[in-house]
Formats: sequence, C-alpha cells, structure tokens
Amino acid sequence: MKKIIVSPSLLSADFNHLADDIEMINSSDADWFHLDIMDGVFVPNISFGLPIVKSVKKLAQKPLDVHLMIVQPERYIEAFAKAGADVLTVHYEACTHLHRTVQEIKAHGMKAGVSVNPHTSVKLLEDILPEIDLVLIMSVNPGFGGQSFIKNSLKKITELRNIANVVNPEVIIEVDGGVDTQNHREIIKAGANALVAGSAVFGAENPAEAISKLKTI
Ligand code: DX5
Ligand code: ZN
Repeated sequence: MKKIIVSPSLLSADFNHLADDIEMINSSDADWFHLDIMDGVFVPNISFGLPIVKSVKKLAQKPLDVHLMIVQPERYIEAFAKAGADVLTVHYEACTHLHRTVQEIKAHGMKAGVSVNPHTSVKLLEDILPEIDLVLIMSVNPGFGGQSFIKNSLKKITELRNIANVVNPEVIIEVDGGVDTQNHREIIKAGANALVAGSAVFGAENPAEAISKLKTI
C-alpha cells in the first residue's frame, strides 16, 4: 500500500497550549510537523518565525516540514537549518535563482522543497525536479488556514506525477490547503503522497483520529 505522509499545520494549533498540540502530534500517526512562515510581503499575512521553530524543535519527535512563504528565502536558509528544519520549502515565485537556492538548502543538510501557487504551472518545475526532494502544490492561495480546496489542483497533481515519473520518480508530492478527510482520497488518487492539514486536524473533535483518517486510503 502507498505510504502517505501526513503533516499537520501548526498554523491552526492553539498557541496558548502549543506544547499540548505538539505532544498530540508526537503520539499520533502524523509523520511531520508543518510550520508556515509568512512575512506579510509574499503573502498578505504574518505568522511566526525562528523562535517558534526553535521551540517546536525542542519538543517535536518528528521532522519539521518548514514552508517559507517569504520573499528572498535564500537569506534565511542557514537560520532555518540552525532552528531545526528538516525539510525546507521555498516558493517557485519567490526565487530568482531557484537552482542555487535548492543547492544551498541541500548543502545545509535539509531536504529541499519547491512550492507552486495555484496559478503557477507545474510544467515550470521540469528542470528543477531532478534536484529536489519535494514539491508542495498549493491548493489554496497561500496566507491563511481554513480556505476551500481549489479543484483544479487535482489536475496539477496528476500532471506533476506524470512529469516526475520520467525525471524524478522519488519526489514527494505534497498538497497544502483545504485538505480534509472528505477529499484526501481523491488527492492521493491524483498522485499526491503527502498531505498538509491545518483546520481539518485542529478543528476536529478528535485531532489524532483525523490524522489517522488522513493516512487511510
Ligand atoms: C496556507 C498554509 C497552510 C495552512 C493550511 O497558506 O500554507 O499550510 O495552514 O490550512 P488548512 O489545512 O486549514 O487549509
Ligand atoms: Zn503550508
């Protein structure tokens, strides 16, 4: 059976009781912690930064999947490596020299991810795909949790999986935005093997159970 990575997004966690939510993820079926870094420039919202990543790292028993929604992310690669990121994802739209940025992420010992906004064609990733570990397909416009899944993303996932089968079959295809226990099966069927979920996990009556459901095909 296909192994699905589930990466709950802490953006929807309770920041007054963050340690409890980290502990819930540690003892759940989740695979990674998803941390959304927003700068108020690349996206119209500001979330949290390095001090929170460092604090999460102290308690997390699973890898940190850090999603940079910031301009010029190359300026912060070393800082996020030191803060404890295991996967570092930058946006295609935010990088002028994406190839160099990807090499630097890997040189700092992290897995390298590239994310695309809903309007960005996955065809543009063909030349960078052999260099990276993960593609993060945004299925909402980045910036906020709790938005609805954009249906056209399914087509993009399949198109990317077909390109990846030729140039990098090992690449992880992760989907972020509006993922829940109602649509996760069709997202996986389209070709994804990693799911980010914020409100579907932390808004659930039983978050650990929601995580287990997301892992079940
Ligand atoms: C949105 C972030 C997401 C967000 C997802 O810009 O990248 O990771 O937390 O939240 P949900 O799952 O609620 O759409
Ligand atoms: Zn994210």
